[in-house]
Amino acid sequence: MAPYPPSAYTLGAGPVLAPKDMDLVALEASARGALGEMAYAYYSGGAEEGRLLTENTSAWQRYHLVPKVLVDVSEISTTTTVLGEEVMVPVIIAPTAVQRLASLEGELATARAAALSGTVMTLSSLSSTPLQDVASAGQGAPQWMQIYILKDRARTKAMVEQVAESGYKALVLTVDAPVSGLRSHEIRGGVHLPDDLELPNLANASAARAQRDGFMAVVSQEFDPSITFDDVSWLAGLTDLPVLVKGVARGSDAVSSLSAGASGIVVSNHGGRQLDDAPATATVLPSVVEAVAGRAEVFVDGGVRRPSDVMKALSLGANAVLIGRPVLWALAAGGQDGVTGLLEWFTHELRRTMALCGVRSIDEIDASFTQRVPTST
Ligand code: FNR
Ligand code: LAC
Repeated sequence: MAPYPPSAYTLGAGPVLAPKDMDLVALEASARGALGEMAYAYYSGGAEEGRLLTENTSAWQRYHLVPKVLVDVSEISTTTTVLGEEVMVPVIIAPTAVQRLASLEGELATARAAALSGTVMTLSSLSSTPLQDVASAGQGAPQWMQIYILKDRARTKAMVEQVAESGYKALVLTVDAPVSGLRSHEIRGGVHLPDDLELPNLANASAARAQRDGFMAVVSQEFDPSITFDDVSWLAGLTDLPVLVKGVARGSDAVSSLSAGASGIVVSNHGGRQLDDAPATATVLPSVVEAVAGRAEVFVDGGVRRPSDVMKALSLGANAVLIGRPVLWALAAGGQDGVTGLLEWFTHELRRTMALCGVRSIDEIDASFTQRVPTST
């Protein structure tokens, strides 16, 4: 495989070509068949009845895109930079646990697809593949490592050292899971880690706990619920890597995170898997962007399913989006090629959306391209 940036990197710029179809609903159905019900319950589930899971997706439809016309859109570029690294498309792979539930190659397939597609993969701490192996599979593509601060601080410190040694470009500290959400799907679906899978980046006991009691037990027994903004400073002090704080819904928390040493923010609600009554990320993104006021990069995830959702997120002030479940469906249904195809579709059709909006490059996207859909009074 060509080293990063791959030849596909040029896919980030060029004319708008013939439409590429992608039916994410059919892809999820195909993935469900491949996964089986237990793994599908884990991947698909939100917290409680899944209200926020649904709201995350529908909230993007509460914005219209307002196109400019009579702009020369014969050449469109979707390339941009995130934390100083150039990517082909502002669509980053979100950290999702245990990808070997989806495919034997798991996180290795996702890493290769991200590199081939010229974008960033964020590896979950609950990866089913050692972080060092995922780094090698990425062949020089920029990768980020998601971190939970564990009660076992020495373990967290050791992981950060391994992450830095392995060439990851950033830490993504997840802060919206001090305790587990009420994962009704996981309880009803008997979700647990199969005996033939591991959690190699956590303690050995973690895998045994997840095999015996499920993933919520790992969250409640091993993640430190006492962390505060002081711990953002502690983590940032362990390494020169930039630290993104993931799971923020309030502008004030974003500002406090930056003051504590964070280099960026991910507006997220864990894909609706934690506090089911939280607002959709599309709803709170503008207030976080306003509070950060250009001092740092802001990313967003949650319910991003269409290239037009990406355009809306960037118009609302995000530097890029992260996608979670669509990657899992693509991985389960089509392995590495499935994930590559998904990322190429997002790139290809984001270019079309940009052309239809009258923008030729990512930096031309500003707040004027979105307006809230008027609510019927
Ligand atoms: C996640 N997410 C997540 N986040 C995180 O910080 N660490 C993790 O280990 C995981 N694990 C995980 C597993 C599964 C199965 C899902 C669906 C999600 C949350 C993830 O990073 C992201 O915030 C959401 O998935 C984004 O929402 P969408 O794109 O799935 O709607
Ligand atoms: C989850 C945890 C592992 O959402 O972040 O399943």
